[in-house]
Amino acid sequence: MNHKNLKPFPKGFLWGASTSAYQVEGAWNEDGKGPSVIDMGRYPEGTSDFKVASDHYHRYKEDVALFAEMGLKAYRFSIAWTRIYPKGTGEVNPKGIEFYNNLINELLSYNIEPIVTMYHFDLPYALEQKGGWSNKETIDAFENYAKTLFKYFGDRVKYWLTINEQNMMILHGTTIGVTSSDMKDAQRELYQQNHHMLLAQAKAMNLCHAMCPDAKIGPAPNIAAVYPATCNPEDVLAASNLSSIRNWLYLDAAVFGRYNSVVWSYMEEKGYTPTADKNDMDILKEGKPDFIAFNYYSTLTAAKYEDKSKGENQASDQQTEMSEPGVYKGVPNPYLEKTQFGWEMDPVGFRNTLRQIYERYNLPLLVTENGLGAYDKLEEGEIINDDYRIDFLRKHIKQARLAITDGVNLIGYCPWSAIDLVSTHQGISKRYGFIYVNRDEFDLKDLRRIKKKSFYWYKDVINSNGEKL
Ligand code: BG6
Repeated sequence: MNHKNLKPFPKGFLWGASTSAYQVEGAWNEDGKGPSVIDMGRYPEGTSDFKVASDHYHRYKEDVALFAEMGLKAYRFSIAWTRIYPKGTGEVNPKGIEFYNNLINELLSYNIEPIVTMYHFDLPYALEQKGGWSNKETIDAFENYAKTLFKYFGDRVKYWLTINEQNMMILHGTTIGVTSSDMKDAQRELYQQNHHMLLAQAKAMNLCHAMCPDAKIGPAPNIAAVYPATCNPEDVLAASNLSSIRNWLYLDAAVFGRYNSVVWSYMEEKGYTPTADKNDMDILKEGKPDFIAFNYYSTLTAAKYEDKSKGENQASDQQTEMSEPGVYKGVPNPYLEKTQFGWEMDPVGFRNTLRQIYERYNLPLLVTENGLGAYDKLEEGEIINDDYRIDFLRKHIKQARLAITDGVNLIGYCPWSAIDLVSTHQGISKRYGFIYVNRDEFDLKDLRRIKKKSFYWYKDVINSNGEKL
């Protein structure tokens, strides 16, 4: 649809940027922090671990000052569960509370709105040893952790995100490093874990409303509109299958408190249906989000997949094609270019995705990730010319504005990432930040911060409320 006039970004729009605790903080075993599944995991050869990351734990003041200079209105970060509860439950670690109190206060002193993810991939290892999300007790541990966060930070944090990319943990957990590869009957077990996470999320949303009546809370999955490879009705069905399995399962459960019907019959067909207690569905119904946060990197394209082509083209990571015989086959989209890391770039797909989510759920939307992973180069004179990143973000922001003009209630945009950090499985060389961190995979150098060209560009975007792109 063409528009004669574009609507402006709304007043108070949350122009922000994002990070997650384990990818940026470092200090992996300091001040009483316990180990998480990430700390105990293995890293792909040739990529850094997360022990030091960007050393934000020690440099948060300097970083927040830079965020303020860039003009951020919001900063989305995650709290490391293992800083608050080193073993997932038990005694609160006062040093953990202190760190996030300091960070939140520092942000507020610059009028930057904290947007807090409660759990971003880094489950406490002590809970994992007791079965992780397969064990129902983890639901109680999460509820207790949520209660602690609301108690200590709820007076100042007005935007909460429950679980980052639950869908990616279920579909690509091994690649991201949160799922052990030797799990028995893995798919069934993963859908059982998913069920437990959905319950934990519903309980946390409920609790948030009870404890912090003027705060808002929502889920934060990774959502990608799925295109059919052709207008062959069989391809359209395959695309719909993938979209239900990858997208709607998670949001239908969070918003409507019920399982997506297509996914339920898919789970029945495959023998993946989770074991549920009598009142589980009531619990799901009781938890209601105030908004939907989601991460968007690209779209996906799907075609019909015959059973006989078994085994081919298995799932890889968050944005690469995945396939399941008899259900859908991920195929490349010939209209789209790819990043240096093989992810398709689809700004118009961003508008499509925003519209699909809004039309389906009618809740305010908050974009909590969107960005370009690239090999940046530090040039002489402390310059990083990341024009490609500017181009990527500019195109996406343009489409966000078109979506707003289409009628989507978009309340904020927080690209990934505020500052360089370690990618989930491709090291620090896959950079996303507006601020360069001077280190490489194994040489920590001086970790100094250098503003990239995109830093200055985004500052202008924010200053002009999205008019100057
Ligand atoms: C999302 C995650 O999947 O994408 C982030 O929420 C992640 O944690 C981001 O870093 C980019 O992915 P990657 O794999 O390039 O780090």
